[in-house]
Amino acid sequence: MRNVKFFGSIPATRSKFGSHYGEKIFELEGELYREWTPWRSKLSAMLMKNYKVEFLGNEKILYLGAASGTTVSHLADIVDEGFIYAVEYSAKPFKKLLELAKNRQNIIPIFGDASKPWEYSGIVEKVDLLYQDISQRNQVEILKMNSDFFLKKKGRILMMVKAKSVDSTLESSEVFSKVLEELYKKFFILSTDTLEPYHKDHIFVYGVKD
Ligand SMILES: C[S@@+](CC[C@H](N)C(=O)[O-])C[C@H]1O[C@@H](n2cnc3c(N)ncnc32)[C@H](O)[C@@H]1O
Repeated sequence: MRNVKFFGSIPATRSKFGSHYGEKIFELEGELYREWTPWRSKLSAMLMKNYKVEFLGNEKILYLGAASGTTVSHLADIVDEGFIYAVEYSAKPFKKLLELAKNRQNIIPIFGDASKPWEYSGIVEKVDLLYQDISQRNQVEILKMNSDFFLKKKGRILMMVKAKSVDSTLESSEVFSKVLEELYKKFFILSTDTLEPYHKDHIFVYGVKD
């Protein structure tokens, strides 16, 4: 993946910025790298499991469920010539996300509810990648809505799903099958897998808008 190197078995992103959440900083040939552990970020967990998500570096990304910006900060290192609209609706993590965005030109923080995309449609333009990590019961519906509003044709989706958040009464495998069944109707799925052993009871789904 662009701007990513492995230090031993752990990935790190090349960065002009310091530590955001206490992650270690490595130096290699005069450049700084921020440790990106798979236990803190589901995208890093995908990388550890050898799944490829390619970036040119100039992508526009809409990120739903940015929290305090752990994964957003690494994505911002990766798309250093693009930018990320980072949506979060909880005030506490949003405060930390704002601090991150103060130092970085390519993060646009949006204090908003991902289930109401029309409320930020005046700010967000068409994007190349829609990333969603919101642990919500209706997260497929929310993904589809945001895709209709903002995702370019042939744009990509990357969705993180926690079974218990979608339906705590069903077996995880049943929840994942239902989610995938819905997604297949609208997207071409490139890859999907569990995020074990880094994130229990989670899958990722990576696809393209048909
Ligand atoms: C699992 S955490 C995200 C972690 C983050 N993606 C990372 O890797 O650094 C889920 C986040 O989604 C946020 N969230 C859940 N539902 C949301 C919604 N409808 N709109 C905006 N944010 C939402 C939660 O407040 C929480 O901060």
